[in-house]
Amino acid sequence: MRKLPEELKAILAEVDQEIAPRLREIDDQVVYNQGKVLKAFVDHQVAEADLKGTNNGYGDNDIGREKLEAIYAQVFQTEDALVRPQFVSGTHTLAVALDGNLLPGETLTYLTGMPYDTMQQVIGLAPKKRGTLIQKGINFSYVPLNEEGGVDYEEAEKVLKRDQPHIVVIQRSRGYDTRQSYTVDQIKEMTAFVKKVSPESLVFVDNCYGEFSEKHEPTEYGVDFMAGSLIKNAGGGIAQTGGYIVGKEELVENAAIRLTAPGIGKEEGATLTNMHEFYEGFFLAPHTTGEAIKGMIFSADGPIRPPYALYMQGGLTYAHDRIAITNAVNHLFF
Ligand SMILES: Cc1ncc(COP(=O)(O)O)c(C=O)c1O
Repeated sequence: MRKLPEELKAILAEVDQEIAPRLREIDDQVVYNQGKVLKAFVDHQVAEADLKGTNNGYGDNDIGREKLEAIYAQVFQTEDALVRPQFVSGTHTLAVALDGNLLPGETLTYLTGMPYDTMQQVIGLAPKKRGTLIQKGINFSYVPLNEEGGVDYEEAEKVLKRDQPHIVVIQRSRGYDTRQSYTVDQIKEMTAFVKKVSPESLVFVDNCYGEFSEKHEPTEYGVDFMAGSLIKNAGGGIAQTGGYIVGKEELVENAAIRLTAPGIGKEEGATLTNMHEFYEGFFLAPHTTGEAIKGMIFSADGPIRPPYALYMQGGLTYAHDRIAITNAVNHLFF
């Protein structure tokens, strides 16, 4: 590493002082979230045998898998959970959750503007149409965001009353958009709005990058089901694959049937060698998420697409982010 110039060291000292209170807030949040995870581990008496996984082909009676799903359900305060290595990505997990709970003729409505890019392909808004929700006869609509990047409630009321959606989606994180990610408080307000205007609609949250980024999760406030990736926060930087769906029992079961097959649902799915890293990753998830947030407080996260400014994305630890950004600034500006 090149020696840092005195001027840059002085800037670093200033930044350290400025961000110290916010870093302390994150420390407090990490302790709170770690407490939730730890309590779930203790309540379910996690033991060494749970980490072994099943290699028996079908994966019947995988006690470690069932326990981990019960732990996710406890932490997210939901009736049930599906946590599986067979989910190849966040997109796949979201697709299974939605497709498993929609029938031809029903409508899917995004409350938070146009969906994340890969979800546009799942829905059928991109050129390739084979196997998409729209091709299967599911209708799609969305509510464009207002100028501040928030939900346009006036427009939303019209869309919900017009379309009577079976599922209303809230995308928590901004994806490639320039808006802020939505806070859990905002999601609580959005959920209450949907339940008031369209009581029959289910509320689903795309929680990619959301887990443990606050003290509370959207499922504590009336959200019916929610999904995310283990290759993001919930895997703690340890899980190498997988996704999760949490929510009402019936909705989780419907998704499981879509992931496996009718008659199988949650009952099967060998966990092979994944259980150890799923447990370890979930245990570390509050800490790792806190580290990533601290890194973003120090630097700046942004969409990795033109016009490129100086962005840092994907740092797993605060120290890593700090070193990478300091080196980049030193290289470019000194
Ligand atoms: C909001 C949101 N939804 C869905 C996804 C898709 O996740 P994956 O890249 O694992 O398919 C992402 C990925 O960054 C995301 O930010």
